[in-house]
Amino acid sequence: MFTVNPFATLAESVSPIFMQSFVILMVLLIIIGTLLDIIHKKNVKYFFDNAKKAKLSATKNLSTSERISVISKTIVSDIATTSELGAGKRRIAHLLGMYGTILFWTGSVIMIFCYSNSSSDTPSLWPILWHLGAIMTVVGGGWFWFFLRVDVYSEAQPWYRIIKADLFVLALIASSLTGLIWSYLLSLNLGDRWDDKVFLALFIISNLVLFGGVYWSKFAHMFYKPGAAIQKNLAEADGSRDNLPPEADAPKQFGLGITREDPKHY
Ligand code: HEM
Repeated sequence: MFTVNPFATLAESVSPIFMQSFVILMVLLIIIGTLLDIIHKKNVKYFFDNAKKAKLSATKNLSTSERISVISKTIVSDIATTSELGAGKRRIAHLLGMYGTILFWTGSVIMIFCYSNSSSDTPSLWPILWHLGAIMTVVGGGWFWFFLRVDVYSEAQPWYRIIKADLFVLALIASSLTGLIWSYLLSLNLGDRWDDKVFLALFIISNLVLFGGVYWSKFAHMFYKPGAAIQKNLAEADGSRDNLPPEADAPKQFGLGITREDPKHY
């Protein structure tokens, strides 16, 4: 199963053009959903207006090489390792889900566009990365959803309570999980049985929900967060600090209570 390209098996009954058109449709859905979100929330306009305003209180003019250095450090730390989430399980779960998704999507695109003829010989690397990515996403996303999301972790809500904010993480987990099960069932060579077709249908539906739901879900944070991290670090380097006061130059004294429990009441 792990070394077999499921899309090449699917190509025995479905034209590769159909699969490729589906991927293109998903990309279009991301673009449309994100643009609608930007227009509706006016967040990008706010972001640039705020950055312009903050620039006025800059105490230092950054040279191009200083800006490049700040941006590179942000990419390596804040973005590639989501350092915003601190050290601990929240960050590990996010990294599993983030890199899992990147592997799963990259594997899907390469296998669908380069090796989706039933006669094509897919290098084992791609199906292995695709399956590994799906497992990482299910583990990271499941860990987050069952144990770490704020309403369960801090607000004592039961794990089965589902709200609109869960759309992104649940659709992400569903698309990876149904993809994995579909691939497993294909590998059993069930012939004309219905099992693999049901999971193929669920795989398609969960992708439609994931990519069609960009406007309503947290999907677009993967574009906004990197931009916000770069702006925040540039504002720190040029002294404008987004018009926030500097950190107090005094010892941190929060009383003994601070050590009794992890900070988890948001
Ligand atoms: C392929 C890229 C990414 C994927 C698949 C992904 C996935 C996720 C998921 C599933 C969640 C949980 C959403 C929820 O609250 O229900 C999440 C939250 C979050 N993501 Fe991402 N993400 C990606 C990229 C990024 C990047 C690039 C950053 C930062 C630079 C980032 C920062 C965050 C933060 C700060 C949270 C909130 C975490 C929390 O509440 O514990 N993400 N992400």
